[in-house]
Formats: sequence, structure tokens, C-alpha cells
Amino acid sequence: MFVNREKELKILENEYNRDGFKFCIIYGRRRVGKTTLIRKFLKNKKHIYFLATLENEKILLEKFKEIVAESLEDEFLKGINLTSFESIFKYIARKKEKLVVVIDEFQYLSKVNLAIASIFQSIAENLNTELPKNIFFFQRKDLKKGLKRLQKGTV
Ligand SMILES: Nc1ncnc2c1ncn2[C@@H]1O[C@H](COP(=O)(O)OP(=O)(O)OP(=O)(O)O)[C@@H](O)[C@H]1O
Ligand SMILES: [Mg+2]
Repeated sequence: MFVNREKELKILENEYNRDGFKFCIIYGRRRVGKTTLIRKFLKNKKHIYFLATLENEKILLEKFKEIVAESLEDEFLKGINLTSFESIFKYIARKKEKLVVVIDEFQYLSKVNLAIASIFQSIAENLNTELPKNIFFFQRKDLKKGLKRLQKGTV
């Protein structure tokens, strides 16, 4: 049973309904309900949900590519060999449809690829209004530290 979180869901819905590229960070203590909230929000929305784990970059990249291909029902993507997160994100960013991209436990991804935040930044800056209305969600436990690192590009 899902209880409460109406305020949080409303904030997410508002972001979703605004035009353009949105970048949201969801943070909070362990077991507070971040993943559950995200899952609820994603219901009936076209989305990619990726749960990062403590594995090496090559494995995370391969798993992420698989999930993107499955979520977008993209046989072409399944069959090709992508060598970087940047190329997958660029591929996602070219999609015209409205799409929510979630990276849960983002800290594991940034651990294996320190450049990941600056990659997002450059892709976001290059998105113009005709391009997709993507949203990226990240989960971090410590927002302050996360934002500071994001600004420095060293997440
Ligand atoms: N709104 C809710 N209503 C009822 N149960 C909830 C709600 N949100 C979370 N829970 C329950 O609380 C537990 C923890 O939730 P969840 O895994 O979403 O937390 P989390 O913040 O993602 O944790 P972690 O930091 O470990 O990833 C789960 O068992 C989940 O079912
Ligand atoms: Mg969680």
C-alpha cells in the first residue's frame, strides 16, 4: 500500500508537465521511500529506470544499454556495441517523445565514471527546445555534497 507523498508526487508531476529538459535530484535518508516514490510517479509514463550497482564501468554500461534498448523496444540498440555512457545519453537525447530517465543509486555510477555529471551538463546545454523533453532523475543521499560536486563537474 502506498501512503502519502502527495506533495512530492505533485512536484514531480509539475516538473513533468513543464516543457523542456528537466534535471531533478531526489535525495533523502536510507529507506525513506525514494525508490517507491519514483516507481509510483513512473506508472503510465514512458520511462527508463536504471538501478546502478557496485559493479565496474563496463558492466554498468552494458546493463544500462540493455535497459535502454528494452524500455524503448529498440532492437537496433540491442545489437550494437556502445562504448560510452556519453553515446547512450546522446542516443536517448535524440528521441523525440517525452521520456523520463531515472538513475537510481546514482552515486555508484559516478563512482566508476567521474565525468558523468559533466557529460550530462554538456548534453543538456546542447538540447534545444525542438529536441526531446527528457528528464533525468538522480538519487543521492547527500544533496549538498552532490550539488557542490555537480557544479564542479566532479560527481
Ligand atoms: N509511500 C509509501 N507508502 C508505504 N510504504 C512505503 C512508502 N514509501 C516507501 N515504503 C516502504 O518503505 C521501504 C523503503 O522504501 P524505499 O526502498 O522506496 O526507500 P529508499 O529511500 O529508496 O531506500 P534506499 O535509500 O535504501 O534506496 C519499502 O519497504 C517500501 O515498500
Ligand atoms: Mg532506493
